Formats: sequence, C-alpha cells, structure tokens
Amino acid sequence: MLSSDQIRQTFLDFFRQRDHRVVPSSSLVPAGDPTLLFTNAGMNQFKDVFLGREKRDYLRAASSQKCVRAGGKHNDLEQVGRTTRHHTFFEMLGNFSFGDYFKAQAIPWAWELITSPATGYGIPADKLYVTVFREDDEADEIWRSNVGVPKDRIFRMDEKDNFWAMGDTGPCGPCSEIHYDMGPEASDLGHADCKFPCDCGRYVELWNLVFMQFNRDESGAMTPLPRPSIDTGAGLERLAAVLQGKLSNFDTDLFRPLIDEAALLAKVEYGANHETDVSLRIIADHARASTFLISDGVLPSNEGSGYVLRKILRRALRHGRMSGIEGTFLYKIAGHVADRMQQAYPELLDAVRVVSAVIRHEEERYETTLSLALKHLNSEIKIAASQAVSKTGVNVDLWERADGTLQLRSGPPVAIPGNAAFQLYDTFGLSLDLLEDEGSWRGFSVDRTGFEAAMTQQRERARASWKGAEKKAASPDYLRLAEAHKTEFLGYTENETRDSRILALMVKGAPVNEAAPGTEVEIILDRTPFYAEAGGQIGDTGYFTEPGSPRHVAEVSNTYRPVTGITAHKAVARETVRVGDLVTARVDAERREQIKRNHTATHLLHAALRKVLGTHVKQAGSLVAPDHLRFDFTHYASVDRQDL
Ligand code: SER
Repeated sequence: MLSSDQIRQTFLDFFRQRDHRVVPSSSLVPAGDPTLLFTNAGMNQFKDVFLGREKRDYLRAASSQKCVRAGGKHNDLEQVGRTTRHHTFFEMLGNFSFGDYFKAQAIPWAWELITSPATGYGIPADKLYVTVFREDDEADEIWRSNVGVPKDRIFRMDEKDNFWAMGDTGPCGPCSEIHYDMGPEASDLGHADCKFPCDCGRYVELWNLVFMQFNRDESGAMTPLPRPSIDTGAGLERLAAVLQGKLSNFDTDLFRPLIDEAALLAKVEYGANHETDVSLRIIADHARASTFLISDGVLPSNEGSGYVLRKILRRALRHGRMSGIEGTFLYKIAGHVADRMQQAYPELLDAVRVVSAVIRHEEERYETTLSLALKHLNSEIKIAASQAVSKTGVNVDLWERADGTLQLRSGPPVAIPGNAAFQLYDTFGLSLDLLEDEGSWRGFSVDRTGFEAAMTQQRERARASWKGAEKKAASPDYLRLAEAHKTEFLGYTENETRDSRILALMVKGAPVNEAAPGTEVEIILDRTPFYAEAGGQIGDTGYFTEPGSPRHVAEVSNTYRPVTGITAHKAVARETVRVGDLVTARVDAERREQIKRNHTATHLLHAALRKVLGTHVKQAGSLVAPDHLRFDFTHYASVDRQDL
C-alpha cells in the first residue's frame, strides 16, 4: 500500500523524468494577486506565465501545491467533515506546460501515471471514467485512439463541469477529468446501482486536466492566451483514499492519525457516534488548515484571510468542546500536522513554534467567551422555541446534549430573532457565521435581516453619541440667534481670521450690547478659526485682537456650540467689546496641533482595537485633549495583557 508521501513522490518523479522542473509549493497567501484570498490551485503561482506576462527558464513544471478553499470562489468550509472528501486545506498535485506540450501529450501521460503498474499507480482501467468538454472532439479522439479508452467510458459535459476558471477573471479553458468508481458502498445516497455520472459520492474526480486557452477579463470576454497550455490538478487526499483502499479521505494516513489523536483527547471511539465523528473530522481538517495558514504568515484577525483563519480555528475549538475535549488541545494536533508534513513542506519546520503559540493563544482567549455565549444561546433557543410553540400549537422536542447545549429535534421552525442574534455577537462575541453554523445542525435558523437591522441601529446610535456635546439645552437667546445667523468655521485651513464681526455677546446667560474689561463673556462671531468642542475633541483656546494691532481685546479659554450653527467663545474681555466690532481671532496653534495628533491617535486606537479584539468594538465616548486622550469602548470581556 502506498503511503501519501510515496504517492506525492511518485507523481513528482514521474514528471521529473519527463523533463519537468519540480517546483516547490507557493505560499497559501497569493503573492500580489488581489483576486484571490488563498491559493486555491496549483496553477496560481504560474498565472502570469500562462498569460505571457512572465517568462521562466523552464516550459514544463510539476508541483505539489498547498491549497485552501474556504472563502472566495471555491469554498468548501460548510461541507467539511460531513462528506468523505471536502477539505479546507488540501494538496494538489499538478503538471504544467507553458506553451510547450498540449492535449496530445498531457492526456496519455495522465493515463499512464494513473493506470500503469510499472511507472505509475496501477489503478485498474475498468474502474475509470473520463469526461471531456461538450465541444472538445480533439480530446475525445485522443482518449479513444491514442489511449484506448472505450467510447462508452467517455462522457461529454458542459461548462459547469468541464470548463475550469481560477476565479471570475484570469486564465481558463475547457477541461477533461478522470473519475474513479468507488463502488456502491461509497454512495452517500445509498444508490445500489447508479451509473456514471452520478454525484451521489460513488464516482470521484481524481484528476482534472485543464487545457488553458483563454484569459477572461472583468467583462467576461475571453481572449486567447499567447500559446495553449496545460494545467492539471489531482487531489492527493483522494488519490490516497483510492490507493489505500478507503472510502473516505479521512481514513487515509493523511487524516486518520489526527482523528485518532483528537478521539484520544476526547476519550471517545471514532466511529461510535455520527455527530462526534463529524466533529473529529472537522478538528483534523481544521488543524491542518490552521497549521499551514499560520506557517504561511496568516494570523487570526477580523478581516480578510485572518478572519477566515479565525473562523476555522473557532469552529475547530467548538467541535473540540462538542466531542468532549476539555481545555486547549488544537495546538497539540497542529504540532502533529507539522511533524508529519515537514518533509514535504520544509517551511513547517521553522514555523512550528509560532504555529503552536498562535493557536494556543487563540484557544485560551476564546474559551471563556465561548462558554458564556453558549449559555446565553441556550436561553435564546428556549425563548424562541416557546414562541414557536405558542404560535403554531405544535410542540418542540428540545434536547440537552452532553455538553449542556440545546438541540431541537422536531417541531415547528425555530428562528433566533435578529436582536437576540445581534446581542450574542455584540455582547458575547459569537459571530453570525458561527451562530448560523450552530443552527445548521442544532435545528434553528437565524433572522439575518433582523441581525443586519440591529447592526445598523447600533451604528447610528454610536454616530449620534458623537454629537452628544452639542445636545445641552440651548437658551432661547441662542436659539433666536441661530435663526438669524450662523458661525462660519474656517479652522480647517487657518488659525487666524481677520475681520471677524461680533454678532452677539452673552454675560451670565443674557444678551448684552457691550462688555467691560474684566468681564467673563461669551462672544459669538460670524467667522472663526476656533474649533468648538465636539466628538470628544475639546474646544480651542486663543485670543482676539483689534484688527491690525497686537492689543488683546479678549482671551479665549474655551469654545463650544451652544446650539447648532453657532460657535461661542468663552472669554475674558481685556478691552471693552461691543456687538458689531471687528476683531482678529487667533487660535493657540501649538495646542491645536497637539489636540489634532491625539485625535488622530484616537482613530488609530479605535482601528487597532477593532482589529485585535473584533469589529464589535464600538466607541462609547472619548476625550481628546492636548496632553492626553481617553477612549471608552465596549467589549464582552476584559482585555488581556497581550492584546493590550
Ligand atoms: N486548475 C485546475 C483545478 O484546480 C487543475 O489544476 O482543478
């Protein structure tokens, strides 16, 4: 029986002997390709070579490529663990021709490697089926005449099955696939005698040969590539299942040791309970994906690839808990992944310590959050279930699982309302994704529209609180003033405004026409560079002079908006000031610069908190002064030292 290491090596050696350069896998983080979240096929690293934008010193290559399909065009996350062959992380074996050989060589080689007992894997030909693109007479002919595949084993398929594209744009072309008959016992639907092509699970695609011929642009238009090329991809996990005589990829040597380790930690027997088995498979799959993603530099975060990693990690932890594992564990399984795979992917050797530290940290911080969230979710399920019962008159069968969580086994549909879902997210850190994931097997749905609405409301509340500073009850005199006038704010561009006119004066809350030296007075101008306290930023200070003279007529100690549209300068008069006078208004510019820097720092801090703790972090208040800033925010737990 071939081990997966031998299968990989046989593939690479086969093409090395046929003048291919064996190229190391590229990183899971695509270099300079914004169309991709993760590397999802062996051809990604050759995209520009296919397009004729880049030249290499070889025209034939072969590789074993690390791939992740979670998020983006090819996304298998939800299926993982529930089928025998979906994975987030997998290895794709491929051979490539960059305008060198084409179908007439690629097809016979693929057949030889799959079927020849001498030079390849020796898989019996009578277990194999072949598909070609509907219009591809040429490939059909090669399979029949050059290779000798019987006519009734060749099937023509349309775009959906036999036209491959890396993403919405980029290189693409018709393809031809080799499928393997796993036998009726592999049918997920219990088919005893279905014929190819049936997608019940019995027939498995082993190898996809893409005849790269076009580049598709944003408009969907396809232009021919400089030269027709070859891109093939064979999933190592599936080949291993076939060659190791297993119905499920999870029973191969790539997964089984990881599953067994998880089962040991959970003190359960793999194969004894369906739901637990699903969990153990998810753990094994996600441990592989996390190990490889982190070793390629992805860190858990709340956006982009980091978010997908976090989701994968948290799903694995959730399933660990469900299968009965206590405490941190995933980092241990990840350690095994690294040990087991570092011969094929030497980069794992250097990364192994970081991988385990990152996973362990994420496990520790998520543990408390998760148990609080699940407790709260239980009460929400009970409420939603009893509402469903009173609405329909039909009883629900609510069952408490061994881990204390509730599951709905039968009864009317139960939906967690949007507000409750939002609270679970906002207060308990349970994201909508994970909540829906829980619902998918625990028998409830989530009101997504209601969730979005609650999210929008929250945003508006946060925005309104920014304007809080303006909302002190305004005196009727100010309201009257605001009806007739408006202070123009010039402080975005200047610190000094000449010829500002005094519109009004207030002493002890009452309007006056003039204020004598020494009086505390609020001065309202038609134009001012002074920033009025708002959004946490405190008001400017400075002074007024007579136009064209250095003589101070008033010292300004604060600036605020008593009512929308009007700026009041709190000042002490040095000379007599009168309504109608012209003044030059000058801000203390150095102090203002300090305030500006702290205001910028506030936004940076807010962004950093969202990145580190999560996007649920909302500003709850702030103070921006020249010498310090304060930032109040919401979060469901205390912030640990490392995050700080
Ligand atoms: N790019 C093709 C695939 O991913 C063949 O390698 O299936």
